[in-house]
Amino acid sequence: MSRERAIAVIDSGVGGLTVAKEVMRQLPGERILYVGDNARCPYGSKSPEDIRAYSFQMIDFVMNTPLKALVIACNTATAVVLEEAKANLPLPVIGVIDPGARAAVQATKSGHIGVIGTETTIRTKAYERALLRVGQDLTVTGMACPAFVPLVENHMADSDEARRAVRETLAPLVGQELDTLILGCTHYPLLAPIIQEVMGDQVTLINSAEETARELSQQIAAIGENAQTASSISAPSHLFVTSGETDRFRSIAEEWLGCHVHVMHHTLEKS
Ligand code: SIN
Repeated sequence: MSRERAIAVIDSGVGGLTVAKEVMRQLPGERILYVGDNARCPYGSKSPEDIRAYSFQMIDFVMNTPLKALVIACNTATAVVLEEAKANLPLPVIGVIDPGARAAVQATKSGHIGVIGTETTIRTKAYERALLRVGQDLTVTGMACPAFVPLVENHMADSDEARRAVRETLAPLVGQELDTLILGCTHYPLLAPIIQEVMGDQVTLINSAEETARELSQQIAAIGENAQTASSISAPSHLFVTSGETDRFRSIAEEWLGCHVHVMHHTLEKS
């Protein structure tokens, strides 16, 4: 990467591309260093100890590059390591849970908010806590959807199998009073059209990517870093690193981001 300091975006796999895409849209001059731990995805079914160890291996890796900020784009990793990372790293660290909770509280009219995420994200109740910090009189219904991440990682987000899995998994939420559903896993926006079809148009889906990119932009400004504008750097050279197969990563990333991406392999291990 060039000497221009980058925004690091780390994720368990390809899901964080939903956040990277929004960072590229809102901060088009910023250079992104993306790391996806595809080899060990999904994190949602792993123990908190493993999630912590894997997340810090990614953090140690990106900290070798001069950075402006770090975005933990994985909800599961955010739930487990955000506070520790914030306390120990000398740069702004942004997770995806608080921004998603803020956007949901702004969107709900009935006060009944659903949260779907991995087993770990739902078990930690991180969204419930974040929602109750910003809103009052809320009813929160959480549901783990362990079948969803493998579908996205296997490039099957637009398949009959995905439609069947989403319909069956979300059946208990359909017809409940909730009017807002947080996609509490960065992989789920890639399934958003199917989730919307199953839940119905009366339910607003919340993808925390937009709000996360906004918070990133504010935090960069707060430390006196001016976000690069599109005109100040014409084409920032983003770098995508995966611990898994580069070809599969590239094809999902290019389809989702709509541009050519430079992908490198890196094996993540204990330092
Ligand atoms: C996972 O790795 O299980 C999903 C990522 C997320 O929680 O956003």
